[in-house]
Amino acid sequence: SAVQTPAASDEPQRIKRQAISAEPSALDPSQLTDVTFTSYHKTKDQSLVGPCVQILTIMDCMRPTSLAKGCCVIQEGDDGSTVYVLEEGMVEVTKQGRKLCSIGPGKVFGELAILYNCTRTATVTALTDIRLWAIDRQGFQTIMMRTGLIKHSQYTDFLRSVPSFQSLPEDVLSKLADVLEETHYSDGDYIIRQGATGDTCFIISEGQVRIQQDSSAGCDLRGQTLSKGDWFGEQALKGEDVRTASVTAVGDVTCLVIDRESFKHLIGGLDDVNNKQPDSDEVKAKSAEADFFSSVS
Ligand code: CMP
Repeated sequence: SAVQTPAASDEPQRIKRQAISAEPSALDPSQLTDVTFTSYHKTKDQSLVGPCVQILTIMDCMRPTSLAKGCCVIQEGDDGSTVYVLEEGMVEVTKQGRKLCSIGPGKVFGELAILYNCTRTATVTALTDIRLWAIDRQGFQTIMMRTGLIKHSQYTDFLRSVPSFQSLPEDVLSKLADVLEETHYSDGDYIIRQGATGDTCFIISEGQVRIQQDSSAGCDLRGQTLSKGDWFGEQALKGEDVRTASVTAVGDVTCLVIDRESFKHLIGGLDDVNNKQPDSDEVKAKSAEADFFSSVS
């Protein structure tokens, strides 16, 4: 069955503490999203957290261990209370004897049993000699909770910097930060398709999007781009739930998504939201200008 990780000795932990502090990105960003953030933030309890504090918190929960090629790290069906970060070597993930994938350095595994309070969903075996770091259930949950608080603080700071939301009271900003879902898009991805039904509104937190409207709809927004701090998708939440234009990503884009109910309760009453004019004269002029230049080129 699965190995028990030995108790940590001080020495390797001290050495590793320096190594990981210097290179926090070695941890899997999809699992430990906030180990690489760069500025200090205040959490709800007003304590300062930052890169060093966060990394030290993680380090305090981690025990280093080495295993030989062929060792079983996790056995499918076992009870599990440890999450692992692989530092060196490769492991293989199998389920009922079938290979699912191989995992390399910097990746996290063994998180599912802790997140979902279930037995191990797969077997993980060392393909080579490996070095890995074990995090116990409580440590993992502390990390998850802290990263959640930090995310919340980052969202609140960002929302406060958006001109349209500056009149919102702190408690509303905080509630908005609670309900936001972060989504990522690559160049050319459709975020919204004209004619589709939709019940979400998007705030751009990174990158740019292009709005395109079928000209048969009578209003052409070709060429209009929106960037950080702008929002879109609110039209469908105000009346008909059909999208009035398509929105595509220009390069990598990150959006914060708000659902219909939260939109209505938290920001639906804002003047900026109600008065937004997507088909303004300026936009029409820009579009006419774009048409003119494309016709002469
Ligand atoms: P857990 O169920 O705790 O233990 C086995 C681990 O294998 C699991 O957590 C995941 O970390 C990993 N795992 C399970 N299924 C997959 C999969 N389809 N792809 C990658 N990793 C997986």
